[in-house]
Amino acid sequence: MVTEKEVADVGRVLIDSGQPLKARFRALFTLRNVGGRTAVEWISRAFVDESALLKHELAYCLGQMRDEAAVPVLVRVLEDRDQEPMVRHEAGEALGAIGSLKVLDLLKQYSTDPVIEVAETCQLAVRRLEWLQKNREYPGCNPYFSVDPAPPAEEKDIEKLRQTLLDESQTLFDRYQAMFALRNIGGERAVLALADGLKCSSALFRHEIGFVLGQMQHEASIPQLSEVLVNMDENPMVRHECAEALGSIAKESCLETLRVYAQDKERVVRESCEVALDMYDYENSTEFQYADGLSKIQAVE
Ligand SMILES: [Fe+2]
Ligand SMILES: [Fe+2]
Repeated sequence: MVTEKEVADVGRVLIDSGQPLKARFRALFTLRNVGGRTAVEWISRAFVDESALLKHELAYCLGQMRDEAAVPVLVRVLEDRDQEPMVRHEAGEALGAIGSLKVLDLLKQYSTDPVIEVAETCQLAVRRLEWLQKNREYPGCNPYFSVDPAPPAEEKDIEKLRQTLLDESQTLFDRYQAMFALRNIGGERAVLALADGLKCSSALFRHEIGFVLGQMQHEASIPQLSEVLVNMDENPMVRHECAEALGSIAKESCLETLRVYAQDKERVVRESCEVALDMYDYENSTEFQYADGLSKIQAVE
């Protein structure tokens, strides 16, 4: 059992901007794993931070926790035009992940937001909520235990899925379904099909490809992910996701690029490389868990 005091100790690390970002990330993932109202409250308090990277990850974690207590704060973040597009996007996606029908109208409204990443996210979330009205979701039914913006397509043929994935005349939701089906099938052919998606026109779509390739941790995608990270003309949200994917693949050949771009002029890219280098260290260590906020607190006591 985790005590309230322990949760608060971890929460204080999360909201302390004087702490290194990698420690705050580990604290955040610890709170996500602990769950419960107090954890939701601590995570919510960090939305006043200056790091868009940290804030978008707060929203992501709140969505993955699927706790309805997080709905009001996520609505506020989505509505707040002073928050960075990447943060508002993640708040919209998290509302879709939680799956409460109470926000369906709100998500419809933001489906035409002038910020394209926000609009597309809300379109996806609306489709997800509509899908949930007719279907049952089985949490943990994918190999990664993530709550995804769309359920996997039933199709199993990699080439057909690849065609749907890359077909820009189809809806984003259908293409996301192909994306998650490919991810669940796994293996090099699926990874390479997904990597082709890094050339599609929607930045939101490309960033999701980066995320999925990070989940898969397959080295066949290292060249394509690196190519995105080094491309200064690419949207920072996409570069960010590719940096983190390289951190979780955690092979030697990822290291040099991450070290170089830890000095990037875009803050969100710099910080992503910093966090990715910490993931690299974790993946190449004997540490038992990444979300080690509790053991760190206990070690101090
Ligand atoms: Fe995202
Ligand atoms: Fe992200």
